[in-house]
Amino acid sequence: MGTITGKLPAHVDIFEGYSVHLRFAGKKFHKKSLRNGDGFMPDMLVKLYQLPESDPVRKQLSANGIEIRRAIAPEKHLVLDWIKERFGEGWTSECEVAFTNQPVSCYIAVQNQKMVGFACYDATCRNFFGPMGVEESARVHGIGKGLLLASLHAMHAIGYGYAIIGSAGPTEFYSKVVHATIIEDSSPGIYRGMLKR
Ligand SMILES: CC(C)(COP(=O)(O)OP(=O)(O)OC[C@H]1O[C@@H](n2cnc3c(N)ncnc32)[C@H](O)[C@@H]1OP(=O)(O)O)[C@@H](O)C(=O)NCCC(=O)NCCS
Repeated sequence: MGTITGKLPAHVDIFEGYSVHLRFAGKKFHKKSLRNGDGFMPDMLVKLYQLPESDPVRKQLSANGIEIRRAIAPEKHLVLDWIKERFGEGWTSECEVAFTNQPVSCYIAVQNQKMVGFACYDATCRNFFGPMGVEESARVHGIGKGLLLASLHAMHAIGYGYAIIGSAGPTEFYSKVVHATIIEDSSPGIYRGMLKR
């Protein structure tokens, strides 16, 4: 085990939301948070009054045994454990806040009674979407799209006209699925000066 300090080296190879896994000699050995201003992670704006329908992707997922639904309170410990294991403490803390809202502002993707993804809104800021994540082995099958659309439709239903995707990692994913646009000068935005361990 080791720690890289200073400028990010060229072998940074896997972006996972606000974190980067560093590889050295082919071995993953350190995670560095980018959410405190160490990298360019802009916020994005989404028009909630022009969202694509969520039914087609839900139906497609359902045909493959995957359900997108709101998480409920008795599942909190399982949801948080799942996130912590895959995406770290920061996202776990944010999701914990989503569980203080009623209804819970966290959607999960479920297959065979196991989680394969999650998405939160109204966690770190009101009107913010995120964080979200999908099990690595289950990606690019529409689960992220299903979670994003379910959450954004829920935000529209409670009265928001726009949503802000906080510190967007995969900006192309968001612009592709919901035509999100980058908000200028928004990185590091509200995450500026965040505490470090
Ligand atoms: C980003 C993430 C949630 C996407 O989930 P997913 O289930 O793989 O996404 P989907 O399969 O629903 O993709 C929907 C579309 O976006 C595309 N897409 C997926 N990830 C993309 C990316 N990183 N960049 C560009 N396009 C992407 C897919 O190819 C698909 O296109 P299609 O409709 O033409 O087939 C997932 O890759 C993930 O968990 N990443 C790590 C955590 C992360 O970065 N979270 C975001 C924090 S801001």
